[in-house]
Amino acid sequence: MQDTLRIDATGARTTGAAIHVPGDKSITIRAVLLGAAANGETVIHYPLDALDTRSALDAVQALGAKVEDRDGAWIVHGGKLKSPSAPVDLGNSGTALRLLAGLLAGMDGMEAVLSGDESLRSRPMGRIVEPLRLMGADIEYLEHEGSAPLRVKGRRLQGISYEMPVASAQVKGALMLAALSADGETIITERIASRDHTECMLPLFGAPVHISENDGARSIRVHAAKLQAAEVNVPGDFSSAFLWVVLGALMHGNGIRISGVGQNETRMGALRAMQDAGADVAVHLTSYLGAEPVGNIRISPSRLRPLHIAPASIPLMIDELPLLALAASQAEGESVLEGLGELRHKESDRITETARVLAAFGVKADADGDTLLIGGPQMLSPTEDDCGDDHRIALLALACALLAGGESTLHKFSSADVSYPLVSDAVKAVIGYR
Ligand code: S3P
Repeated sequence: MQDTLRIDATGARTTGAAIHVPGDKSITIRAVLLGAAANGETVIHYPLDALDTRSALDAVQALGAKVEDRDGAWIVHGGKLKSPSAPVDLGNSGTALRLLAGLLAGMDGMEAVLSGDESLRSRPMGRIVEPLRLMGADIEYLEHEGSAPLRVKGRRLQGISYEMPVASAQVKGALMLAALSADGETIITERIASRDHTECMLPLFGAPVHISENDGARSIRVHAAKLQAAEVNVPGDFSSAFLWVVLGALMHGNGIRISGVGQNETRMGALRAMQDAGADVAVHLTSYLGAEPVGNIRISPSRLRPLHIAPASIPLMIDELPLLALAASQAEGESVLEGLGELRHKESDRITETARVLAAFGVKADADGDTLLIGGPQMLSPTEDDCGDDHRIALLALACALLAGGESTLHKFSSADVSYPLVSDAVKAVIGYR
């Protein structure tokens, strides 16, 4: 773990080299949790081995699942979860905590306290607790109303029909996992789509999911099911790949090729926005891993038109927005990114943090409520900056440092380990220096 990263990006350029990004965080966490709940031996190939996914793995072990590492694949022996003897620490992972709350809420005899680091304990939990309580869940806030730590006591749940008030795959996923042990059917309706990895994965574990579309709304129906162990192949994480998409487009050089990366459309909004703005990107679908599309992306130096991002597309690019804001600063004209309110509830307030890091590198981004206004193109200058406690902000700072050229120093860069360990080594492999 490297806490201060010093980069001399003098003469840095993309080499046209190919890169393979680490496994998908959302998919790895879901596979670990479903594997723990399923009867038998679940095998997770190419998992993301990073702090957030380790938090999920430690949590299921605390709940009695046995876990092994077999040549880099994670094996989860699940099916008989029991109450943990101490609070379960989910670290920085909102996905793991929220999904686990849903999974445990319907397990008879279960009693668990779910907590996490300071950032996670400051994130909103009412968004899962309220609908889970509508299903009959017994969940209590132990310190502050609306926040973790949560005490979950498993009990019999009833299916509900629920229209999502915020587009959130974590909330949707928590309800779907609770539905697996509820009486009757649960119907979740989303008017604005969010990532659909839970929908894609549940059938692999033997739980049917029925999806219908009506009048622009998507309804997901789930009912009780006994999960059976599965084999999950995890694609590369599109969110990690997006670092390279931005660098490939904005840096001088021969561009970048990314192989084996997830191409689920509910994740690719930022890439589609870059294409709309004129980025030179080619996307090749090569196969499916279960229901998840996977393939290669090639990106070349590009001139960008201003980006106009509307609120309905934000969930499809939710984790890429800090890097997309950097791309906007290099477009020719003023970009407008609207409807960013959810960014304030991430591992940090990402509207404020994005503007802060960009400003440190000399780039002006104006936050007007939930909108970011960014003129371009703006020059970046090397600097010394702090990445804060947010992995996506650490990646933004890294991209800024590479684009700025010259020598930059990034403190607390180990924040990146939450989703992209060893990213600075990958930079050396893909970016050429003078
Ligand atoms: C995730 C959903 C998103 C995303 C997070 C991972 C998931 O959060 O930002 O990094 O795996 O379900 P929200 O559901 O809060 O939008």
